[in-house]
Amino acid sequence: MAEYRDYVVKLTVNGVTYIVSVKPYERLIDVLRYKLGLTSVKEGCGRGECGACVVILNGKVVPSCLTLAIRTNGAEVQTLEGLAPEGKLHAVQKALIEVHGIQCGFCIPGFAIAIKHLVDNNSNPTDEEIKEALDGYLCRCGSYSMLIEAARLTAKYVSEGRRYFDLRECLGE
Ligand code: FES
Ligand code: FES
Repeated sequence: MAEYRDYVVKLTVNGVTYIVSVKPYERLIDVLRYKLGLTSVKEGCGRGECGACVVILNGKVVPSCLTLAIRTNGAEVQTLEGLAPEGKLHAVQKALIEVHGIQCGFCIPGFAIAIKHLVDNNSNPTDEEIKEALDGYLCRCGSYSMLIEAARLTAKYVSEGRRYFDLRECLGE
């Protein structure tokens, strides 16, 4: 079997800069989950069809299972772990709690990233725009109507200027 050399990649994830060594065939999901311990990034299909692994890469939502790590040198990446400052929840996380949109939770990081990206770019999306932004994301538990409701509520919070919420308050402590 051919031996592949290592390449050095420098990338900023959730505001922290990392230098990692990668093989040319390694994917961004491998780096995020197994080298940086960011386990919100889930592997569902592994072929760009379910949305479980999406991250925001240089301002765009991309499937990390289809992104070669070697191509992310110099990139800015955001995962669910970096959506809110310490001790806070992002509006999308609060909305997901409120609408009881979480069953097994496997798909939630992907939906949360997609909704966050949507409201960052459009704080007053129509239902059509929400459905378009979430098109192709799979929820095996079938929580689609609650996830759309969570997107509506996130947009409402963001349009009111309420982007972050106190974590303890959200948990009712
Ligand atoms: S695991 Fe990447 S899109 Fe399904
Ligand atoms: S909540 Fe289980 S896959 Fe979506």
